[in-house]
Amino acid sequence: MLPIPRSSAFRSFCRIKEFSQFSTSSGLQTYFHNKAFRSEFQARQRIFRNFLRGQRRFQSSKKDHSEKTPISWRISIICAALGGLYALHLYNTMKNQELREAREKRKKLGTAAIGGSYELVDFDGKTRTDKDFLGQWVLLYFGFTHCPDICPDEIEKLVKVVDKIDSDKELPNIQPVFITVDPARDTPKAMKQYCEEFSPKIIGLTGPKEKIDEACKNYRVYYSKGPEDEDGDYIVDHTIIAYLMNPKGEFVEYFGKNKTYDTLVFEIKEYMRKYAVFED
Ligand code: NI
Repeated sequence: MLPIPRSSAFRSFCRIKEFSQFSTSSGLQTYFHNKAFRSEFQARQRIFRNFLRGQRRFQSSKKDHSEKTPISWRISIICAALGGLYALHLYNTMKNQELREAREKRKKLGTAAIGGSYELVDFDGKTRTDKDFLGQWVLLYFGFTHCPDICPDEIEKLVKVVDKIDSDKELPNIQPVFITVDPARDTPKAMKQYCEEFSPKIIGLTGPKEKIDEACKNYRVYYSKGPEDEDGDYIVDHTIIAYLMNPKGEFVEYFGKNKTYDTLVFEIKEYMRKYAVFED
């Protein structure tokens, strides 16, 4: 429904229409009026038509608007849904970040307890401490030279790993260090003879029992001397673990006997690459 037009255009149109109806009775009058007012009549008619057109446009625009509303609602819902999804994604990302940080923190706290200082002697009886290896990657292993099978196998594996890492020109070298848990028999000379059988790269360390005990305690290495046989021979039960230390002298990872050569090479390379990116 059109609202009642109140514009001057409508009023003048009505007046003209009325006037021309009355005036059609007399020819001259009609002619005069027609002649005199035709142009104005037509002009006003045009104005009124435009007025009506405007009203219609106004109505249809109102209609259009009401028709567009559901579309904009749909858009709003889609936007809200997308916004919700994005918020969820952000929330998850933040949560994951937090978890990662917590895990790293826990790892740092846990690993801070492993490693530490030691003061032992090398093949030449020269004092060597953990500080001597700063700036180098170290693969540290505890064992004893009379070990029947496990230590030789482990040292052989570690030497192979070290050679592999050293052959990679993209990566830094790694220093193998062997600390004895049997200082009574493993003199500097015995250590030298034993280590040279595997690789000239190994630095073997020994020392007084208290110093060995201190080193073992710092690295959470357990050892226990077994009973002696009639020849005075004995076995030393000990933890079979190799420790990876970074150039800052910090503990990075430990590798048990079950870790294969390939795993060790892969993991050490990964740690070296990560260190190069994040620590250097
Ligand atoms: Ni052993």
